[in-house]
Amino acid sequence: MRRFVIKGNICYSKSINELCITENGYVVCEDGICAGVYKELPECYGIFPFYDYTNHIIIPGFTDLHVHAPQYPFRGLGMDLELIGWLNTHTFAEEAKYSDIEYARKSYDIFVEDLVNSATTRACIFGTIHTQATTLLMEKLESSGIKAYVGKVNMDRNSPLYLQEKSAGQAFEDTEKWITRSLNYENVKPILTPRFIPTCSDGLMEKLSILQKKYHLPVQSHLSENTGEIKWVKELCPDTSFYGEAYSKYGMFGNEYPAIMAHCVHSGGDETSLMKKQNVFIAHCPESNTNLSSGIAPVRAYLELGIKTGLGSDIAAGSSLSIFKAMAMAIQCSKLRWRLQDQSLAPLGISEAFYMATKGGGEFFGKAGSFEEGYEFDAVIIDDSTIKHPQKLNARERLERLVYLAEDKNIVAKFVNGKKLFEKTAHS
Ligand code: GUN
Ligand code: FE
Repeated sequence: MRRFVIKGNICYSKSINELCITENGYVVCEDGICAGVYKELPECYGIFPFYDYTNHIIIPGFTDLHVHAPQYPFRGLGMDLELIGWLNTHTFAEEAKYSDIEYARKSYDIFVEDLVNSATTRACIFGTIHTQATTLLMEKLESSGIKAYVGKVNMDRNSPLYLQEKSAGQAFEDTEKWITRSLNYENVKPILTPRFIPTCSDGLMEKLSILQKKYHLPVQSHLSENTGEIKWVKELCPDTSFYGEAYSKYGMFGNEYPAIMAHCVHSGGDETSLMKKQNVFIAHCPESNTNLSSGIAPVRAYLELGIKTGLGSDIAAGSSLSIFKAMAMAIQCSKLRWRLQDQSLAPLGISEAFYMATKGGGEFFGKAGSFEEGYEFDAVIIDDSTIKHPQKLNARERLERLVYLAEDKNIVAKFVNGKKLFEKTAHS
């Protein structure tokens, strides 16, 4: 059933400064597409099946623009190092376990179950270098109903031999086999995933750019996260004048094929201009930036320049799958940045954070992440009545509080592209 009406407090973004809230209004889904938000329900929709969520908070569902599924088991652990030390000490050792398909099965069952129960409806996900485990992850996501881009990770240098492609040629063959197996899912799509420049040789990047052109694939990677990493990339790629050029010289920096770059904490003017010019998406991951002491990305500058920007959990450098938490941390980090580092960029507010979590990141999937007419109909229904309070609060205040309390627990139903993933209470 992909046509119905939902009644409740409808919250959605039109732009970074336009957070629209219709208290006890109606949002209509027709063939999986949003047919508008109404204060009074137009008569023509009176015959549609009706979900009465009066008083509940209704949001379009979040996009997690950057998350590492195999790192989920060690979230909240090993947070005392910076990026490169953290990768070498904790991350590579955990990811190596996914050569064992039974370990992958157990771990990905937990990840997908928790993702389904969160407020996230869409995600861009890193797997590991292992094709079998990555395919398993895609199958689990496909049957969950979550919409996702998933990448087999590519890496062939500066990493342990137990977690490295045998050669660029072997990586090409394995990656192509994985791509061709991944093209026919309904909910899940492949995305090229060179881990980051320090672990990807020129030979590997060349091979991946051939696959990108052959299969018209988007790409996801990491960019300018940590100052030591940036210095290392300068040494590894002496022919480039900034980090992003090491992707763009292989056509993997937006323009023809969409690209997501996670972090961009320390991007300079040339890198930022190229991201803007080539429509690169930035995945801002504030919890990760904090845990790995990377710094705080200048997100307001990106938003004001019109660069496409969404939020990422970056599990396990971020500890939580909750995009509510990512929103709160984006705001809080921007306040510290403003106070301690740069008074020219005002702190973010709820409106900007909600935009990034919904419409900003959702744009990577096309028309997703809003209840404006014509958008794919994703909806998350939240019953916040368990959070007791003596005073009257309007819907905007209740939404603000959900963000700061990072409440993903009270979700009573979730819809993706008009399909119901679950509903916890009986409604007609
Ligand atoms: N850079 C390269 N790999 C990773 C990773 O797994 N997490 C983060 N945060 N940064 C990276
Ligand atoms: Fe990451």
